[in-house]
Amino acid sequence: MPSSEPFGVYVHWPFCQAKCPYCDFNSHVRHGGIDEARFLDAYLTELAHFAARAPGRSVSSIFFGGGTPSLMQPRTVEAILAAIAAHWAVDGDAEITLEANPTSVEAEKFAGYAAAGVNRLSLGVQALDDASLKALGRLHTADEALAALRIAHKHFGRVSFDLIYAREGQSAEAWAQELTRALEHAGDHLSLYQLTIEDGTPFAARHAAGTLHVPGATKASALYLLTQELCEAAGLPAYEISNHARPGAESRHNLLYWRGHDYAGIGAGAHARITEGGAKRALSTIKSPESWLAQVEARGHGLTSDEALSTAETAEEYLLMALRLAEGMDLARLKALGGRALDEAQLNALEGDGLLARDGTRLKATQSGRLVLERLILELAA
Ligand SMILES: C[S@@+](CC[C@H](N)C(=O)[O-])C[C@H]1O[C@@H](n2cnc3c(N)ncnc32)[C@H](O)[C@@H]1O
Ligand code: SF4
Repeated sequence: MPSSEPFGVYVHWPFCQAKCPYCDFNSHVRHGGIDEARFLDAYLTELAHFAARAPGRSVSSIFFGGGTPSLMQPRTVEAILAAIAAHWAVDGDAEITLEANPTSVEAEKFAGYAAAGVNRLSLGVQALDDASLKALGRLHTADEALAALRIAHKHFGRVSFDLIYAREGQSAEAWAQELTRALEHAGDHLSLYQLTIEDGTPFAARHAAGTLHVPGATKASALYLLTQELCEAAGLPAYEISNHARPGAESRHNLLYWRGHDYAGIGAGAHARITEGGAKRALSTIKSPESWLAQVEARGHGLTSDEALSTAETAEEYLLMALRLAEGMDLARLKALGGRALDEAQLNALEGDGLLARDGTRLKATQSGRLVLERLILELAA
């Protein structure tokens, strides 16, 4: 693996103050608190395991995701960053992102994260009105979120925030107003997610019982197109289905996933892709924080799966990820990964339907294609 290729480190913090009813991320509430020093030791141990398996790489991005990493003490973040720098060379301009929830207690820690080396903050604002925040089960108000955003801009050169749209009862007019306001507060990056009803969540139970009504496919598509229009007009076009940035301000860590590069992943429920002996491996760790901790202490890592991907699987994964990007997929890279040639007749048909476009060696989903991306990917991968 050429050491010049981007390489990322993902750090998963699996704890939250409360579980939001729509969320199926690996996040857990521990009312009695946790032994953070003991968890830190385990993160450092697991990091050493990954460093031994990916020697000589240069780290281009680090991402603290969750759960709620803004529940970590800044000194825990600092110790993890120091250990990463002791194991690998870290690029001078490496992107170091931390996901934060916008409560006032968490905003107090922003200066500490910046001092620890974090240079990009991603804030989970989710909605700009208190009734919607309450319906989403959030612990902050809209004013608190905007205050946290102001504090974030003081401490970090790069700030992004997340909103969830296609919420219950949300009209196109209401979303247009909310997004217009959001764009006034935005820096150079925004993540705008359509509400997904995830299996096993309280929202899924209410949806099945008919007590939660979310926009159907047609209305959701209209909201998506409205989102593209407003963001493009504001100079933040989508570079991925849900991610918008001024050109040059895209999240390098996100791009690394979608372009199919390697990354280590530490903490309970993290995923990783590491190339060893010329083959890409898919790794993931135990989801339960306490079981992960016990296994790391006993065996030096919390891995629960560690499998080589075949060249066909590697290429298919690249196709699946890269078509999410506005820049699309590099057909030469697909070939280099060992992917089979795509069917010309099928490509021509999808181009004719206006779902795909070819641009030199790149294949992209058009705006219409992105609306039916899952179907498109299934057809191409079949
Ligand atoms: C790892 S999560 C949360 C980060 C942080 N704990 C927070 O809640 O602000 C990253 C983002 O995924 C989005 N998200 C989570 N569940 C979702 C769902 N069911 N539908 C749409 N977006 C979702 C939220 O916008 C959230 O900020
Ligand atoms: S949305 Fe964020 S705060 Fe809410 S449960 Fe999921 S990870 Fe935790």
